[in-house]
Amino acid sequence: MYPYQITSLAQYHEVYQKSIKDPEGFWAEIAAHFSWRKPWDKVLSWNFKTPEIKWFEGGKLNITENCLDRHIEKSGDTPAIIWEPNNPDSPTRTITYRELLFKVKQFANVLKNNGVKKGDRVCIYMGMIPELAIALLACARIGAIHSVIFGGFSARSISDRLQDANGEYVITCDGSYRGNKEIALKPIIDDALVNCPFVKRVIVFSHTNTPVSMHKGRDVWWNEEIEKVEEQGNPDCPAEEMDAEDMLFILYTSGSTGKPKGVVHTCGGYMIFANYTFVNVFQYNPGDVYFCTADIGWITGHSYIVYGPLSAGATSLMFEGIPTWPDAGRMWEIVDKYKVNILYTAPTALRSLMSYGVEVVEKYDLGSLKVLGTVGEPINEEAWHWYNENIGKKRCPIVDTWWQTETGGMMISNLAGVTPSKPSFATLPIPGVQPVLVDEKGAELEGNNVSGNLCMKFPWPGMLRTTYGDHERCRLNYFSTYDNLYFTGDGCLRDEEGYYRITGRVDDVLNVSGHRIGTAEVENAINMHTGVVESAVVGFPHDIKGQALYAFVICSEHPRDEQLMRKDIAETVSSVIGAIARPDKIQFVSGLPKTRSGKIMRRILRKIAEGEMANIGDTTALLDPAVVEDIKTGKL
Ligand code: WT7
Repeated sequence: MYPYQITSLAQYHEVYQKSIKDPEGFWAEIAAHFSWRKPWDKVLSWNFKTPEIKWFEGGKLNITENCLDRHIEKSGDTPAIIWEPNNPDSPTRTITYRELLFKVKQFANVLKNNGVKKGDRVCIYMGMIPELAIALLACARIGAIHSVIFGGFSARSISDRLQDANGEYVITCDGSYRGNKEIALKPIIDDALVNCPFVKRVIVFSHTNTPVSMHKGRDVWWNEEIEKVEEQGNPDCPAEEMDAEDMLFILYTSGSTGKPKGVVHTCGGYMIFANYTFVNVFQYNPGDVYFCTADIGWITGHSYIVYGPLSAGATSLMFEGIPTWPDAGRMWEIVDKYKVNILYTAPTALRSLMSYGVEVVEKYDLGSLKVLGTVGEPINEEAWHWYNENIGKKRCPIVDTWWQTETGGMMISNLAGVTPSKPSFATLPIPGVQPVLVDEKGAELEGNNVSGNLCMKFPWPGMLRTTYGDHERCRLNYFSTYDNLYFTGDGCLRDEEGYYRITGRVDDVLNVSGHRIGTAEVENAINMHTGVVESAVVGFPHDIKGQALYAFVICSEHPRDEQLMRKDIAETVSSVIGAIARPDKIQFVSGLPKTRSGKIMRRILRKIAEGEMANIGDTTALLDPAVVEDIKTGKL
């Protein structure tokens, strides 16, 4: 039990009301349960116009003291991280809080020995191994700002991010395992660094033991650096005293325009929000084994594999592999093997596993499960019921958690077993979160049975503070669409009972297998192919991925071999962004439906991609309505 854990529906309503009436008092009371070097002077100051948001100003802390040091006395021997390797026959690892603190200090000293200082940006590009969590925490220990780059991104994506963050330090590994594939990581870093001469040091962890090139003066081995620290007698590494509003990390995410932006989270508010939501939504109790299947390369891994669980002294299970290897029973095998109590995964994973039938599930004992969660995209009712019946055996509440990279933690979600669940609804806001629905003009839609664009009218501690190096972009993206509101980019409805249901993005951002992809980014990548003149990318519904990418492409000449050209274009996207952004369908067209002002009418392309040929809607605003017929019939 945590002192701020809500345990009944009546209490939820009471706490929620309090959190709205007196947000400062509400969050201050929760924050008091954490370890601060110096208390804050002011709980909150905010202005959504500029925007400027400060939580716990003047307060001093270090998040790793809250995630590690403070648990040692009571739970030093509790497993902090349990690691299941990709290969089920390889040895697993269990790292207690005491051991994790030791390793974090050791690696923090490695960082210091290599010149990393408070405020420096450290980019991390690794597979899902405990050293990834150790790297994050070691950065936080010394006040360096980490920026994790998902292992699926290309060299070019890495160098864009390194340049944007001006990251002088990189932590990587030789490679990682995913299913039957071995993925090279260091060679991709080498490619990325051709365009980043400012990088001073690359620390390489050896995981797959594959030969890699090591550049003299730039690259060092993780293990050799640890040995040096050992030779120094393993000196202590006291945590750097951080201001609550000092940056903790940058995480790049896609928007509707331009290159990915670096979402910035700060130390104090983020920690409290990640912890509060973790403890309340999952109803975590000490001793529970908690398994989040996300990758630490995304916000879900930051908040709900590392900072949320560890700040709560929880046992966090980390899995290197994929749910379908060696077979589609892998996740259930892990649940059985470690007696997992809480499982947090993505609808896309469930939809993919559903297709293998229940026989693979029935081989395992899932009796330890108490709570199930989903995140990343709307969950369709079929997947919800499958999860409920076959995994939870109808005795585990399912929490459908809506949130974003920018929100730092869960915003709208039921609390497991405490507040009601409703299939495909995220249901009610977390205490302290004040959602509003607005119409196109920004007028608030009050009452129930309404749908509109989802905004927040009051700050919460975990919210983004800026986009790195470009504060104006942050203002434009999130705070300028509607006056005095944070705009999420999502459409949403509030039903007759006041429950929220997210209906999907209303901007040009797609959600493919829970990965966020900007259509503009994919178009830019496609247009880099020599034979391409112009392209337009839209989403279409996909049984497993949720959404998939449909690209309409104009070529300078009719491709001699269409199939080969499609593959070339997909390869181009892979090398520019990463394999996750490869279009699923490519249609060559002679023109795109444009308005007289030259704007592509995506609404029409979306209809065509969805196969709704008969239902295209009004095309009178088009410069050349005949284009639509050609696209529909596939005429070039
Ligand atoms: C977008 C944020 C939240 C961490 C993983 C994704 C969609 C997220 C849900 C949900 C419906 C959801 C939204 C949101 N989304 N969770 N439970 N139900 N949609 O983080 O990459 O920042 O993407 O994912 O569209 O805006 P992200």
